[in-house]
Amino acid sequence: MRVVLGVGGGIAAYKSAELVRALQQRGHRVQVVMTNAAQQFVQPLTFAALTAQKVITGLFSQESPQDTLGSAVEHIAIAQENDLLAVAPATADLLAKFAHGLADDFLSTLYLAFTGPVLVAPAMNTAMWEHPATIANLNLLRERGVSIVEPDAGWLACGTMGAGRLPDPEQIAEAIDSMTAARRDLEGESILITAGPTQEPIDPVRYISNRSSGKMGYALASEAVRRGARVTLISGPVDLPVPRGVDLVRIRTAREMYDAVLAALEPATIIIKSAAVADYYVADVPKQKIKKTATRFSLDLEPTPDILAAVGERKGDRLLIGFAAETENMIAEARRKMVSKKCDMVVANLVNRDGLGFESDQNEVEILTRAGQIVHAGPAGKKEIAARILDQVARLRLALQAVEA
Ligand code: PMT
Repeated sequence: MRVVLGVGGGIAAYKSAELVRALQQRGHRVQVVMTNAAQQFVQPLTFAALTAQKVITGLFSQESPQDTLGSAVEHIAIAQENDLLAVAPATADLLAKFAHGLADDFLSTLYLAFTGPVLVAPAMNTAMWEHPATIANLNLLRERGVSIVEPDAGWLACGTMGAGRLPDPEQIAEAIDSMTAARRDLEGESILITAGPTQEPIDPVRYISNRSSGKMGYALASEAVRRGARVTLISGPVDLPVPRGVDLVRIRTAREMYDAVLAALEPATIIIKSAAVADYYVADVPKQKIKKTATRFSLDLEPTPDILAAVGERKGDRLLIGFAAETENMIAEARRKMVSKKCDMVVANLVNRDGLGFESDQNEVEILTRAGQIVHAGPAGKKEIAARILDQVARLRLALQAVEA
């Protein structure tokens, strides 16, 4: 795996050299990025010698004036080329920058541009580690799916005893390894995911739609790719970047999504229907814009095809995961949908709470299986929720394979 190792400015920066070695011994290729402060503690040459590659030391670091443009976009290239970003030691300053989206140096800019898994190993003085600001920043990062290797307790460089010491590099390398191992549990699977809203035209300029942003489905797609699956993402109109490694099919209406899903069904081994499909559409859309009048106006709506139910009819031995967006009786409704649409699993969420569900970066879900299990996840970032859903999908797949064997 290709790991970018961000080195922050703390006395523990010298241990990052050992971490590079530990990662290399596990077969990872390591690219080092150092903050300005880190360079006060360790020379970039140390890491350049260990990795046999250029160490990135700043946003505009260049060997010749012609390299300036190359360096200015290097953070994007590094973000795209690498599989995991690890930051060790992560200082209080770096945690604050990551949590609040500041991008004033290479590492913080890279963090924002990086769409893969991120691990931070904080190290600092005990008072700084226990400060409410640091705790709040870490909680934010945790909610957004960042993995945290907590510091050890012991004698610190500042001469005090307490929590804040960077853990043993072997322990950090192991945590990185376990993230990689978890990542590959969907290898060999071909996953079809639907995301976002549909838009049902009323006339040439108006449509019926809903508040789905696509964030939940896109988080599932990018997490599934990271865990080794081949992913086809069938998406309604959303304003999100295409996750790396995903085959994207753009659709607009429920009918188009229905056609696209059935066309892509054959190679799929797992189908996850997180899209918020319109339940009704206007069958006779006028060619001209409907004129405003002073009288009452009503639309003649017909039900859209139920895509999940149609897949349920054709599922064979595929795993079918539906979603249930509810405002009341969530579990009962989710169970009803599981049976009527022949799902193996239903992810239920309440969609009438502020800051969760539709549009938000956060969600809280109950993951129901046919066997009657209910697993709770969240409230947490959609990336984290996606990981928890895929944990259950991978677990169910293994259980079914064990029964077949
Ligand atoms: O996109 P975000 O802003 O991130 O928000 C995420 C979400 C709230 C949209 C997501 O978590 C979610 O709940 N998605 C399902 C929304 C929905 O349409 O739920 P439903 O209970 O109405 O439908 C049940 C299931 O049937 C869903 O899997 C849906 O995709 C499917 N369906 C519905 C209607 C239809 N005509 N065809 C379908 O396949």
